[in-house]
Amino acid sequence: MPGMNKHLDDKLGSVLARRKSNGKLRRLNNTPANCVDFSSNGYLSLSTNSAVQKSLIERLQLEVAVHEKGKKILHDPHRSILGSGGSRLLDGNSPFAESLETKIAAFHGAEAALLFTSAYDANTGLLSCVPQVGDVIVYDELIHASVHDGMRMSRASRRIPFAHSSILEPNLGKHDMRHQSKNLGLHDILRQLSKDKLTGNGETNVFICVEGLYSMDGDVAALNEVADAVDRYLPSKNGYIIVDEAHSVGICGEKGRGLVCQLALEDRVWARVLGFGKAMGCAGGVVLCSSITRSYLINYARTLIYTTSMTFTSLASIDVVYDYLISGQSEPRRQHLDTLIHYTHRQLHALCARLQPGQHHTLHVRKTPSKSPVIPVFTTHPRALSEHCQLSGYMVRPIVAPTVPAGSERVRICLHAANTAEQIDGLCSAIEVWVQNQTAVTTKPQQVGNERGRESAEAVVDVSTRRDKPRL
Ligand SMILES: Cc1ncc(COP(=O)(O)O)c(C=O)c1O
Repeated sequence: MPGMNKHLDDKLGSVLARRKSNGKLRRLNNTPANCVDFSSNGYLSLSTNSAVQKSLIERLQLEVAVHEKGKKILHDPHRSILGSGGSRLLDGNSPFAESLETKIAAFHGAEAALLFTSAYDANTGLLSCVPQVGDVIVYDELIHASVHDGMRMSRASRRIPFAHSSILEPNLGKHDMRHQSKNLGLHDILRQLSKDKLTGNGETNVFICVEGLYSMDGDVAALNEVADAVDRYLPSKNGYIIVDEAHSVGICGEKGRGLVCQLALEDRVWARVLGFGKAMGCAGGVVLCSSITRSYLINYARTLIYTTSMTFTSLASIDVVYDYLISGQSEPRRQHLDTLIHYTHRQLHALCARLQPGQHHTLHVRKTPSKSPVIPVFTTHPRALSEHCQLSGYMVRPIVAPTVPAGSERVRICLHAANTAEQIDGLCSAIEVWVQNQTAVTTKPQQVGNERGRESAEAVVDVSTRRDKPRL
């Protein structure tokens, strides 16, 4: 009934108005075509790479030709190009999907692989069905929203966050707290759990969830130390490490095999979740695990069972990107990206040193050179800075609390293989001009920028890993 709809719309509208007044209203934006991309997660610029695009089109044309001739040359003759026909468990499976999983598992040194339509589904599917009553999930406090959602759906008895990257043992004097956190470090939590009767004697399990490369800070997880801590405090072998490699696949390790492979931790990490939507330039996700775990997920992961499986086109795009990686063609791109990472870091450092920004517009970058294409530029005015960069033709996004802890607001620079040193120079110049403008108006630092620009910048800020729970 229209009256009822209006009543609910009024309530939803007031929630949105509150969100807007808090500066957190989300909107759908189109990135301006003339902006240099320093924002997307397509680190290797593969989605726009002509060789990859050509391979995909050839693959699709071949498939169409096969269908037209009615020949049974490739894979499954019943497979359609547009839709998969249903869930993997019904009509949506294909020899192509299975052979792609075998290929992916082999490339990453895993026993088995199971594709999901997204890394979000892979994380929620895995975490919602594996941990059981009595089990504990220990997770980095900056872990992605999909892990949070999976944990909430799980039967685990406890979920315990640890301070971001607080993995090194505290008494070694190397405590790696990146920011003040109310949460304990990983060692403290595992030590406490080891004293707990059921986890201590191995009757219940502990799942430890971390990311390979954190997309907000650009830092890489100290996975060796995580594995050592798990071995040390959970000697009954009931500690299971899960690494979300959504951002590290394609970037870390030989040929982009990921961080777990780079550190040769395949046997010490229980499961990995990879995402194809970032460096890999397409879409979808996969869980790398044991064959038994794969079968278990096929039976219990609801995000696999109750959804239409990937289309042929999606599978083919993942397949051509893997071919590109396996053949080593992506290596020059990774090397160029590496050069850009170091160059950007040097330029930003030189800029900060030159500017000596005043207290109203703190601007700094980390001293240790970033190993990743994600470089945070910390500033007290992330929205104004990103708006200025966007208006200057450089797409960067402001990242503010609660996505990152209050006091660590930043503009995030994401580098890509298709970026150039000249573009980085241009971005650094834009930042420099902004700081100089700020210095000139230090009495009114908040008023930089026009209203329209501010709104467009705000619309993209809050990609919180926390769950939104509007109160109606
Ligand atoms: C760390 C991490 N895990 C998982 C996901 C989900 O990836 P997808 O876009 O494939 O659902 C993302 C995407 O933002 C992510 O950043």
